[in-house]
Order: sequence, then C-alpha cells, then structure tokens
Amino acid sequence: METKKKIGVLTGGGDCPGLNAAIRAVTKNAIQLGYEVIGFLDGLDGLINSKYQILDELATSGIIDRGGTILGSSGVPPSYVDGRSAEVLKNVRDLDLQTVVVIGGNTTLSIASMLSQKGLPLLGIPKTIDNDVKETDYTIGFQTAVQIATGALDRLRSTAESHNRVMILEVMGRDTGWIATYAGMANGADAILIPEIPVDMERLCAMLKKRSEIGKRYSVVVIAEGAKLEGKVVAEYGKLGGAGRVLEGIIRARTGLECRTTTLGHVQRGGTPVAYDRSLATSFGVKAVELIANQKYGEMTAIKGNRIITVPLEQVAEGIKTVDMEAYKTAEIFFD
Ligand code: F6P
Repeated sequence: METKKKIGVLTGGGDCPGLNAAIRAVTKNAIQLGYEVIGFLDGLDGLINSKYQILDELATSGIIDRGGTILGSSGVPPSYVDGRSAEVLKNVRDLDLQTVVVIGGNTTLSIASMLSQKGLPLLGIPKTIDNDVKETDYTIGFQTAVQIATGALDRLRSTAESHNRVMILEVMGRDTGWIATYAGMANGADAILIPEIPVDMERLCAMLKKRSEIGKRYSVVVIAEGAKLEGKVVAEYGKLGGAGRVLEGIIRARTGLECRTTTLGHVQRGGTPVAYDRSLATSFGVKAVELIANQKYGEMTAIKGNRIITVPLEQVAEGIKTVDMEAYKTAEIFFD
C-alpha cells in the first residue's frame, strides 16, 4: 500500500495574532494536495516529546480570525533542543513525516536551521510581534501589535490633552524597536526610544521642558522595553520590563514635570489579527505548501516589497533585523 504523504506543523516561542491563520493555510492547502497533517503541541516541546494532534478540515475551520494558537506554544533554549536532536529525528522518521513547518521567531527559526543542518527536512514561517526576523520585511503579528500600540497611544493622547503631563507608553521589543517606531510614527509621538539608539537623556528632558514652557499641554513618549537607560536595560525577575517606569523617574527628577506611565505588555500579543497579518499568514502558508510539493526544504517564507519569496533558514539564523533607520528618521522629524 502506498504510504500517505504526511507533514507536521508547529508554532514555537511567544505567540502572536495570525498564528491560527498560518496553521489553517498550511493545513487546508496541504490537505487539498493529498497530504495528511499533524500539529505538534506546545511548540518544539511537542516535536521532542512526540505530542501531537491530527489537523483536518474541521480542526482548522473558522480560526482565521482567532488570536493565539490552537496548537499551543512554548519557548525552549537551543542547547536543550540540540541535546535532544536524536529524539527529534527519530520522531519525525517514526511518524513518517515528509517535513515539519516551523512557525516561529528568531530563536525557534535558528533551532530549525540547526536541526535542518543535522539532516531534518524543515521549513520556516516567520512570526513575532517584534518584526526582528532577518530576510523578511514583515513577520506575522507585527501589524496587529502596531495597531494595538497606536490605539493605546491615541487614547493616552486624548487623556493627556486635559492635563499638563508627560505620557509614557512602554511597548514590547526585546532587541529592536519596530513596534515603538511604527506606532510612535502613526501617533505623532514626541519621542521614541528604541534599543538601537542610545538615549540622549539631556536632549529628551530639555525638549519635554521646552514643550511645557511654550504652552504645549502634554507630551507623548514611546519606549521599547529593550531600550537602554543610562546604559542598561531594565529587567525584573530576569525578564525585560519596567523601562517606562524608570524613564518616568528620570524625567520627573530632571524636569519636575508630572508623568504617567502605561506598560502595554501582552495585550500587544493577544486578540484578533488585523487583515494584513491574516493575509500574510495565508500567503506564507501557501508558499510553504508549494515548497513541500516541490520537496524543497531548509527554507523560510518571506516577504520583500509585496512579493512572497523564500530564503535559506541558515541565512535567517545569522542575526536579527534592526529598525530601518530611514523609517526612524521620518518619525524623528516630528519630535520637538
Ligand atoms: O519575542 C516577542 C516578545 O513579545 C518580546 O518583545 C518580549 O520581550 C517577549 O516576547 C515576552 O515574552 P514572554 O512573556 O512570553 O516570555
């Protein structure tokens, strides 16, 4: 009897809106081409410990607009997976999988690249609200997070108008300031602090003071959680977070201005994906299935301009994609 063509799919690392749209696209399109699909549970952990469920039409119907991931996710360190790579190879062989589509951010994709170099036929799809995956203009989840952060900034601006205050919004962005830059630009923020650019505190405080002195009733400052203040990132319990509050303390002490800080946190990762993330996830899923049909592995789907392309996973694993300085400079024109 001919063995059925079979593939696996998983979502690894921090979740983001649009993951279900990607799972749906991979599954439905692969089923149309005669594949059986299984979904590994809780990210790479499911691949290591062979935890999975069958994905069929029914399981992937009506999920395109749902936040989170129906498969669950987890973050596992590369060294842990490296130590268990023999089990992973065995599980994939035992399950008779042609490939596994790994939907992940930088850490998950670099693990996929490592496993792929050990002979596992894997494919990658980039997702993360941080948008810091190399070789792709956008990752699944980024546009939704920007929309959420922009909405929060708009609300802060409207309450700020009633008072003479500095409103600070801390957004996610562990190593890069993509969300801060684009949400800040969309809101017309007065300052955007990101990990890529050392913070000039003197200039920032002078600008905020001047705004208040000339009668501007408020200022809006966006800070990415990974921005360095006085040369250091702010972390609690080993996790980034608190940069906004620390910034508030410094601004209060140096300017005497009244400040309020909001930390947006995981709100940025939850809920309904915006249309762009759903269609990007769908296009990435279909491209991954095209690679499967052509038996081409070790690649990641990507978008360049408005073209969906593929790039070697090895190239993606080489580093992270920092903020486009041209975009930052455009936002900066309106700091005053
Ligand atoms: O990697 C995406 C991200 O949203 C980072 O910006 C943030 O530091 C991190 O996830 C937090 O993830 P978790 O709380 O799930 O560990």
